[in-house]
Amino acid sequence: MAPRPLVKIENLSFWRGKTPILQDISFSIEEGTTFGLVGESGSGKTTLAKLLIHLLRPTSGKIFFQGISLEKLSKKEKQKMRAEVQMVFQNPYASLNPRHTVETTLEEPLIIFGRGNKKARQEALFSLLEKVGLSPDKAKRYPHELSGGERQRVAIARALILKPTFLILDEPVAALDVSIQAQIINLLRDLQKELSLTYLLISHDLSLVKYLSDSIAVLSQGQIVEIADSDALYTSPQHPYTQQLLASLASLLGTPEEALK
Ligand SMILES: Nc1ncnc2c1ncn2[C@@H]1O[C@H](COP(=O)(O)OP(=O)(O)OP(=O)(O)O)[C@@H](O)[C@H]1O
Ligand SMILES: [Mg+2]
Repeated sequence: MAPRPLVKIENLSFWRGKTPILQDISFSIEEGTTFGLVGESGSGKTTLAKLLIHLLRPTSGKIFFQGISLEKLSKKEKQKMRAEVQMVFQNPYASLNPRHTVETTLEEPLIIFGRGNKKARQEALFSLLEKVGLSPDKAKRYPHELSGGERQRVAIARALILKPTFLILDEPVAALDVSIQAQIINLLRDLQKELSLTYLLISHDLSLVKYLSDSIAVLSQGQIVEIADSDALYTSPQHPYTQQLLASLASLLGTPEEALK
């Protein structure tokens, strides 16, 4: 089967009052692939994610999910999309409820969406704990009783519990120790394969985005300045801003190749 776009964005713009935050954004994300969105702080990355999960409404332009425009979704389709599109945030400590155990955090979406009886929900959550590399005894823990890496594993499990097709990863490892980052990145990679997930990976870190993404868009001040296959963007960046991003990477970490090791 030929790949088809799971997500398509057409001429999307978003203004806050008289300020343009995103301007004329267009791209599509093929099923089963990772689309990387890279750009400096304040360039509009999280705003774009919020538009995709329908937390914000575009000023103009369209977003299609599985071929249907978000503004045309029926109530039932909206409900379905709320399960199919999930987001993982930068800071798992802020995004997890401190008064909920891991078990409650994972079971809650299943209860809200009326999925399964108690036994089926328990099975689903323990099987998912294993998938994200957490032992069953973590189920009774509270967020403050977990390490940063474990917390992000819980946040990933929560995003997966409703069996979504599309995950928006907004700086998923930026808050973690460098030593833990690679573990979470590899977990995300394995889960994508195992569960046939499509990712939008948002980061200011071009080496991370390059490592995981099939295609990359470079966002600068609310506009996409370059879109290319991951390899092409890295080996022959066209836009001066992309070249500047690569150069700063090289000066921080040696050559781009070394940066990826
Ligand atoms: N709730 C808000 N009210 C007003 N302005 C906002 C709000 N959220 C974001 N902005 C502004 O919108 C612009 C884009 O912000 P956004 O959070 O999308 O950037 P970002 O690329 O995600 O940045 P970062 O890398 O720091 O997370 C910024 O100028 C920001 O100040
Ligand atoms: Mg952001």
